[in-house]
Amino acid sequence: MLSERVELGANSYSIEFSSDPYSAISTFLQTYLGKKVLLIMDDHVESIYGAKLLLSLRSAGHAPLSFVFPSGENNKTIDQVMNLLDVALTGHWNRDDIFLVIGGGVVGDMGAFAASLCLRGVPLIHVPTTLLAQVDSSIGGKTGVNHAKGKNLIGTFYQPKQVIISPHFLKTLDEREIRTGLSEIIKYAMIDSPVLLSQLSEWLLAHPIQYYADYPDSFWESVIGQCVRIKARVVSADEKESGRRMILNYGHTFGHAIETATHYTRYTHGEAIAVGMNLAALIARGLGLCDDTLIQTQQSLLQLSGLPIQSDGVMLNTLLDIVKNDKKVKNGRLTLVLPEYIGKVRIVPDVDEDNIRKILQEVMP
Ligand SMILES: NC(=O)c1ccc[n+]([C@@H]2O[C@H](COP(=O)([O-])OP(=O)(O)OC[C@H]3O[C@@H](n4cnc5c(N)ncnc54)[C@H](O)[C@@H]3O)[C@@H](O)[C@H]2O)c1
Repeated sequence: MLSERVELGANSYSIEFSSDPYSAISTFLQTYLGKKVLLIMDDHVESIYGAKLLLSLRSAGHAPLSFVFPSGENNKTIDQVMNLLDVALTGHWNRDDIFLVIGGGVVGDMGAFAASLCLRGVPLIHVPTTLLAQVDSSIGGKTGVNHAKGKNLIGTFYQPKQVIISPHFLKTLDEREIRTGLSEIIKYAMIDSPVLLSQLSEWLLAHPIQYYADYPDSFWESVIGQCVRIKARVVSADEKESGRRMILNYGHTFGHAIETATHYTRYTHGEAIAVGMNLAALIARGLGLCDDTLIQTQQSLLQLSGLPIQSDGVMLNTLLDIVKNDKKVKNGRLTLVLPEYIGKVRIVPDVDEDNIRKILQEVMP
């Protein structure tokens, strides 16, 4: 099985692929025998995997505590972080007791944020169970919760001790969650890998997304492995997003704004990012950075993946107002990640808002 490394000096860690995540977790936790383990899950993941995980941890000699909260983006809140910390601190947590976060990006972001705050930082292990979390959110150390003013506005950088990825978990995901993960995979292809883009297009043409449950583990390992490698490389070079790491935000400035405008209920994160990538590509074409072929290639791959390329009912003015409030906007000037060709994006500072308005007016009300 594959293994990747995020190289960050003393904060380096490995990303292990395993067909048997239960034994991979037990193996990693051997060094934590005698320490407390807090298993952090949402109620949906708990209902599918909770009993088996607890059993497996107990047979490996641990006496885990659990924190379970309602699933969904609107529960990625500071209030839930406080509830989580109550469980740990009431359980007399020590700085070498560990948080085991298992689930999608919501529980990953929130659990890791809590880990970074608890006693100024306790060890953390990520076991991502959605496709999106496996290719993206569990790697790189961005943690956080949402605020009424926008998504992920409260957070820290905090690296896990290990990430364990298993295609085992993908079998119970519904099609919409697979599609949302594909959106991030398309992002990696667009920013770094024409090879991944061709592989994905060919695969989806021959194996329509509705049959994802029959996709072999080897397909997932190959595709997830490529994404993880890209992310590990980018994060190792720029942990705190002072430069190059921004390319991972391709599609995210407008994607986040769409999520905020629709109150995190209409679109999944990946669906919003899909629309965001389409808008970014349209802006790039409007600014003369890319050609029509790129727009068409990206649109057809997004559509093959069952992803939207336009947002329903979001007005351009609303979108731009939210974008201007984004934490990445400096002095009112927009910095956007825009594609030049497949596998290459550019960080473009100082994009003029009026220019964007003019370009997007053609596709948005
Ligand atoms: N930290 C980062 O770098 C980063 C990067 C990308 C996205 N994110 C964040 O990730 C979040 C989105 O993550 P997500 O799409 O995983 O959403 P999610 O965590 O809400 O999971 C989606 C749904 O799938 C369910 N689920 C999870 N695993 C399952 C499984 N194996 N089988 C069946 N159901 C399962 C969950 O209970 C939930 O209902 C957003 O909050 C986004 O901001 C963070």
